[in-house]
Amino acid sequence: MQTAAEHNARPAPLTTAAPLLAVRNIEVVYDNVILVLRGLSLDVPKGAIVALLGANGAGKSTTLKAISGLLKTEDGEVTRGEIVFDGERVDGIDPDKIVRRGIFQVMEGRRIIADMTSLENLRLGAFTRSDKNVDDDIDMVYKYFPRLKERTGLAGYLSGGEQQMLAIGRAMMARPKMILMDEPSMGLSPLLVKEVFGIIKQINRDLGVTILLVEQNARAALSVASHGYIMEQGKVVLDGTADELRNNEDVKEFYLGGAGDQRKSFKNLKSFKRRKRWL
Ligand SMILES: Nc1ncnc2c1ncn2[C@@H]1O[C@H](COP(=O)(O)OP(=O)(O)O)[C@@H](O)[C@H]1O
Ligand SMILES: [Mg+2]
Repeated sequence: MQTAAEHNARPAPLTTAAPLLAVRNIEVVYDNVILVLRGLSLDVPKGAIVALLGANGAGKSTTLKAISGLLKTEDGEVTRGEIVFDGERVDGIDPDKIVRRGIFQVMEGRRIIADMTSLENLRLGAFTRSDKNVDDDIDMVYKYFPRLKERTGLAGYLSGGEQQMLAIGRAMMARPKMILMDEPSMGLSPLLVKEVFGIIKQINRDLGVTILLVEQNARAALSVASHGYIMEQGKVVLDGTADELRNNEDVKEFYLGGAGDQRKSFKNLKSFKRRKRWL
């Protein structure tokens, strides 16, 4: 386990294999003035599920958008540092090119297309592909999410859980090397969270797809991730294995207090500041 200071001082590893994704000390600015990420670094090894945790407003979605290139659509920019994917720099590249490199983001709030069917939404996920195996992959997605096959109407009529499944299925259709997931638990019942995270784990194991999982629900995320990063105010403040984080007293108090509900922990910000041992 590492504190923020150790994390920032850490030299590049010399002996271990290069991670599939390496975010190195990035700074992100919106509208040329609003500094949101302030020197953020993280590694995602090939084939792993890594969790990026933090409260609302910490900069988690911004981090994912920096990686997927979608920052550009919001007038945001990586102004310092670098993002290396599969051995090549990807920061500053257009989002469609990043999809072609093998990174697919599942946006927060299940951005499926409401007035298309599930099948049409799944086909959209394969927009970068020219191979003939798209139909086979639709069958594969239905194997993981059988309910999507049964529901033949417009996607807008699917339940929240089904829409989340469709959003994940659509990402699978791109056959990405890596999926970035932004709060897949949002708005789902605890039972559905369990189901969706179980399938995320299964997809990771079966297909070998690497996953960077952004969550406010630290408990759910650490149940499937091997490693996690905790961020606050645009920086990583703590990282470690899922076990280390689950057993850390501060993490328990501020991020695991009651079924993923952080309102209690963050209500008293003053005591939060006083108690933070990692800064
Ligand atoms: N398009 C944007 N323009 C300006 N500021 C933004 C934009 N998107 C996010 N922010 C700001 O960046 C900070 C981090 O936001 P975000 O990355 O969405 O955090 P999280 O996903 O952890 O809740 C917030 O203060 C938010 O107001
Ligand atoms: Mg967010």
